[in-house]
Amino acid sequence: MNREEKLKVLVVGSGGREHALVWKLKQSPSVTRIFCAPGNGGISTDGDCVPIAADDVDGLAAFAAQEQVHLTVVGPELPLTLGIVDRFEGRGLQVVGPSRRASALEGSKVFAKQFMARHGIPTARFEAFDSYERARRALESRDWQPPLVLKADGLAGGKGVLIPQTRQEAIDALDAVMKERRFGAAGDRVLFEEWLEGEEASCIVLTDGRAICPLAPAQDYKRVFDGDRGPNTGGMGAFSFGGLLGPSLEQTILETIVRPTVEGMRQDGAPYRGFLYAGLMLTSDGPKVLEFNARMGDPECQVILPRLRGDLLELLQATVKGALEEQDAEWSPEAAVTVVLASAGYPDRYETGKPIRGLERIGNGRRAIFHAGTGCTNDGFVTAGGRVLDVTAWSATLQEAIREAYGAAEQIEFEGKHYRRDIGQKGLKKTRSSKEHHADPKAGPPVKRS
Ligand code: AMP
Ligand code: GLY
Repeated sequence: MNREEKLKVLVVGSGGREHALVWKLKQSPSVTRIFCAPGNGGISTDGDCVPIAADDVDGLAAFAAQEQVHLTVVGPELPLTLGIVDRFEGRGLQVVGPSRRASALEGSKVFAKQFMARHGIPTARFEAFDSYERARRALESRDWQPPLVLKADGLAGGKGVLIPQTRQEAIDALDAVMKERRFGAAGDRVLFEEWLEGEEASCIVLTDGRAICPLAPAQDYKRVFDGDRGPNTGGMGAFSFGGLLGPSLEQTILETIVRPTVEGMRQDGAPYRGFLYAGLMLTSDGPKVLEFNARMGDPECQVILPRLRGDLLELLQATVKGALEEQDAEWSPEAAVTVVLASAGYPDRYETGKPIRGLERIGNGRRAIFHAGTGCTNDGFVTAGGRVLDVTAWSATLQEAIREAYGAAEQIEFEGKHYRRDIGQKGLKKTRSSKEHHADPKAGPPVKRS
């Protein structure tokens, strides 16, 4: 790309993932101006926040056209499933993300399961129900004995998955989803799934519809309390290092899951472009898909991007142009950790507007504070969400990155601040047992053509 080119970019969304995208894009020599819609208080220190909601697809398209934005990156799933990519492309605007049809991989769990069945992609056995009575009868049959997994079909903010341990719990779960409509219309159809045992892992790639560029592997922490206890959250932290999965498992995931998914979507007439996130269970039978997301992970993004060497903009432009095959993503051999500082009460009810102190003490080239939910006042930053700050550090070893991140987390203060103390420990266990992470030269697998 012409290095003299000066471009405007737009990031859609308002959390820590979007702050990390803005932070990384700002390092691109070709970017002159970064907008974030709607952004948040902290993001406004790195880019220009625009008060347009992430789901206001028409408003965003009009803004991008008017400002002659060169490239837009979409963070969250909702605008994708609403068709933001189709709308932008319809106006000749470049945008990174899957089309509305392709976003159904995340937007409808039934669609995703039927797609996987059709294309032989390994996943848990399942059955879909759109009638309460049929689902209720299935619970009486031998096919669906607990423990089983019950999922609302549509988007439910990561909360639409229930794992009843007894038949009564299964009936209660079904009642909650289909009768009481706890997740609204998302639960008008439900899925029963075989319960899979194993360790979870995420695999995120960029794809232009053919070529696949795997991103550095990362693992997140979904539960609110240490030791994976308490309710699910949007994510309480994450870590990443080169040898997290190991080259042979990475290859298996690529060959049995990612490539067949990208090819299958193309064959089905809904080519998939953008970030593709496969949530996996590593079973004794090999990796199986638990879910797809049509976007970058949050908070995985916050540990992946600090490890990316080179220009994120070039990768994103190649994704849009179908030229990803010519791009190489290189990864630093360092380990990265992010610790989420949350508001008291999160993931349930929480208060906002609490002054945040100590941010100025963090200055250090190997740390970044990504703002997940903050506001900016004349007196400084205040809390404005359940997840407030993603305190991120990277270093030669995972242990050092953990120490750096927690050192910073302790110095930041706001009323009610709470965070997990064990982020990264699972990774440390792995590095002790494998030693693979030491400056793994294969940390970044090469771009593969599908
Ligand atoms: P999902 O939103 O589909 O990824 O599900 C959320 C969480 O539920 C996953 O991260 C797993 O911990 C769990 N889960 C989902 N599906 C299964 C399954 N078939 N077997 C075991 N656990 C599951
Ligand atoms: N960290 C899980 C997700 O982004 O869905």
